[in-house]
Amino acid sequence: MCGIVGYVGKNEGRTALDVALEGLARLEYRGYDSAGVAMVCGESVEVRKRSGKLANLLAEIEAHPMSPSRTAIGHTRWATHGGPTDQNAHPHRGGTDGKLALIHNGIIENFHSLKNELIGEGVEFASETDTEVVAQLLAKEYDGDLTESMRRVVQRLEGAFTLLAVHADQPGVVVGARRNSPLVVGLGEGENFLGSDVAAFIGHTKHAMEMEQDQIATITPDSVEVINFDGSAAEGKRFEVTWDAAAAEKGGYDTFMEKEISEQPHAVADTLLGRTNDAGELVLDELRIDEDELKSIDRITIVACGTAAYAGMVAKYAIEHWTRIPVEVALAHEFRYCDPIVDAKTLVVSISQSGETMDTLMAVKHARELGARTISICNTHGSTIPRESDAVLYTHAGPEIAVASTKAFLAQITACYVLGLYLAQLRGGTYAQDAKAVLSELHGVPAKIEALLGSMDRVREIARFMADTRSVLFLGRQVGFPIAMEGALKLKELAYIHAEGFAAGELKHGPIALIDAGQPVFIVVPGPDTPHGLHGKVVSNIQEIRARGARTLVIAQEGDEAVVPFADEVIRVPHTSPLLQPLLTVVPLQVFALELSTAKGLDVDQPRNLAKSVTVE
Ligand code: F6R
Repeated sequence: MCGIVGYVGKNEGRTALDVALEGLARLEYRGYDSAGVAMVCGESVEVRKRSGKLANLLAEIEAHPMSPSRTAIGHTRWATHGGPTDQNAHPHRGGTDGKLALIHNGIIENFHSLKNELIGEGVEFASETDTEVVAQLLAKEYDGDLTESMRRVVQRLEGAFTLLAVHADQPGVVVGARRNSPLVVGLGEGENFLGSDVAAFIGHTKHAMEMEQDQIATITPDSVEVINFDGSAAEGKRFEVTWDAAAAEKGGYDTFMEKEISEQPHAVADTLLGRTNDAGELVLDELRIDEDELKSIDRITIVACGTAAYAGMVAKYAIEHWTRIPVEVALAHEFRYCDPIVDAKTLVVSISQSGETMDTLMAVKHARELGARTISICNTHGSTIPRESDAVLYTHAGPEIAVASTKAFLAQITACYVLGLYLAQLRGGTYAQDAKAVLSELHGVPAKIEALLGSMDRVREIARFMADTRSVLFLGRQVGFPIAMEGALKLKELAYIHAEGFAAGELKHGPIALIDAGQPVFIVVPGPDTPHGLHGKVVSNIQEIRARGARTLVIAQEGDEAVVPFADEVIRVPHTSPLLQPLLTVVPLQVFALELSTAKGLDVDQPRNLAKSVTVE
């Protein structure tokens, strides 16, 4: 949410503007309500900013070229305080001498009182943002040392923020501060970078440095200095980015989402890779929680939001079945407010692609305060949630650029399976034997996803045919239930169509009233071998809605002929054991939403009002 880039360099052949704009292009997925840059140019700071997508800023810079510079900050915004207008776009100026500019990600909670104080002192504001308050405060505090001035300013701020500032009196310096909002340093030769994530500078360096909470980084072309908010010296943790710029490009596909859906077999395979020994058992050395402690866990709570929470719901069914440990799934933003029952024997598992979702971060912090052990399942190295957790199990989906999640979802489910099977293995006996068999089957799933992706032509045709549809329902039971909800979420996000996912058994308790002639309904059917006769029950559900006129779009396993008489369309998925089915059944629903969005001429990668990485509560 909001993309931030900062650059200082002294190398010939690289302009600060080019670096900042390239960084913004890679970060645009974090927010695209407006964009802007500020550069130190001689005695002053030049600013260009425009509402709307980055293309509008590029046009503005073409119309009003900027002076050459080696120091720049750039911002792409997801609006919180103040609408997405030119005035509210970042950077914001501080003071009246045109020498200082600042950008911000997050929310300054006490901005009203600070603003009133500044207005009382005669400061005039040009925007409605909380950010401009910080810019004005910083200009007021500035005494020739931007780092120290920033340090004094952050003491007065409440809320979450990443801030970057430049001042014309210190031309080769960018200062960045962070609290509960992301900021990483990129380390170059004769140049250094700041970014809300490594995508900001991946085209230039793979050497990066994590910062802790409540720290300030000061970068010049030849140095990076980090201090804590209390002024003490600090050291960032260096790391190497494991993917390259090509991974964050479309690679011949029309959209990132198309590419990311096609990468799903790798996302699953790579998340499994290196975690099994020759005996077919899981080895999770990375889980820095003592085995005995893990064995003593008597309850698991999963915290996550959106698609990640649906991965958590799939995990609940699987982990409870494999380990008999009770698993609860809480939407992270509700967790703190339901007085959660959590203690030292509770394992709190957070799931987050970005590792920066504020709701999830706050849930993890709360869980730790209550004494729980915390594991994060995360796709982004150097992000905040893993750092705030006792241990991390990384998913290896690679960078996910499309705002709506696809491949990260499959990788999250896979990592949850890995964790559940590991806990089963620790329990020993038949638990461990069963886990070994499931793990072996899991290794065969990427090839099945690959085959499934090759058979999506009919799904695309159905989607194109349905471009005018106003409402679609999705039904599933057991692990098919979260998949129904994920199918509905994808359709809402990508195609702006009303969609709802239900547990199919719930239908008769109310939602069946929605069914009338022609109402399209996707039904995720469990395999015929699912225990407790579940398959037959879902087939009955299909009949019930068909009898009332629904158009039934059935996702069923190859060879499941029982659904055929009641289906308007049958979309086939390869066979797996019941609990692994979500890795397959969600794929046609993703492709359907993508194709329908494309047929409507919408922006698949950057749906309206959304942003990747939701760093506000
Ligand atoms: C939906 C989607 C969101 C995210 C949610 C959590 O397509 O992407 O619902 O799943 O905002 O994000 P992370 O996983 O980054 O914590």
